[in-house]
Amino acid sequence: MEDIKMIAPSILSADFSKLGQEIKTVEQAGADIIHLDIMDGRYVPNITIGIPVVESLRPLTNLPFDAHLMIVEPERYVPDFIKAGCDMISFHMDACVHSHRLVDYIKSQGVKAGVVLNPATPVNTLDEIIHYIDYVLIMSVNPGFGGQRFIPQTLEKVKKLKILMEETGRMDILIEIDGGINENNIAEVSSAGVNIFVAGSSIFKAEDPAEMVKKLKQKATFTEV
Ligand code: DX5
Ligand code: ZN
Repeated sequence: MEDIKMIAPSILSADFSKLGQEIKTVEQAGADIIHLDIMDGRYVPNITIGIPVVESLRPLTNLPFDAHLMIVEPERYVPDFIKAGCDMISFHMDACVHSHRLVDYIKSQGVKAGVVLNPATPVNTLDEIIHYIDYVLIMSVNPGFGGQRFIPQTLEKVKKLKILMEETGRMDILIEIDGGINENNIAEVSSAGVNIFVAGSSIFKAEDPAEMVKKLKQKATFTEV
């Protein structure tokens, strides 16, 4: 799936008083997915948005909604996020006791299922679940806040994941990266084999967010080898 390159703006860094408008801006600029950072103040030290916000944003765009659940016991809320219109749902395996059951449930609802690796979570955590998931979200910062710096070791992790995908015959799995992605590092990250690029502050804090979406997409797509 090397050639799939998608930009997923994270609305965490958008202006919350005009979320609808912010989403329209990135959609018109060519964004592929809207990344929703759901934090509960327990799994991570921050609280963001919940189900009612997702519901009210849903009619405003046709782009897929990618819910990144940074919450404990994600299984308690997954059905509601699906009802609210999420197309992709990822959760942190260390926040969930029965990961296989949850992945199974998400997929049974026609939604793409992903699991998330924190910076210190090894790739081999995926050894068993890899047979069932649709995508892996690799955190390139510690979850909880936007605007942090990309952890360079992440590139090695992407390479390890690609090896595991090859070994298990799961080259169809999409690799999503989240944290510190900007116009200066996206080309290198893309060359490592990443498919979906989450970008929050680099897009929404840019002078011209629409221009930044286009720039990121262009740099992710036309990488030098
Ligand atoms: C962090 C979130 C990220 C965050 C990325 O916990 O998962 O999605 O919004 O923000 P930037 O792109 O600013 O690092
Ligand atoms: Zn995220």
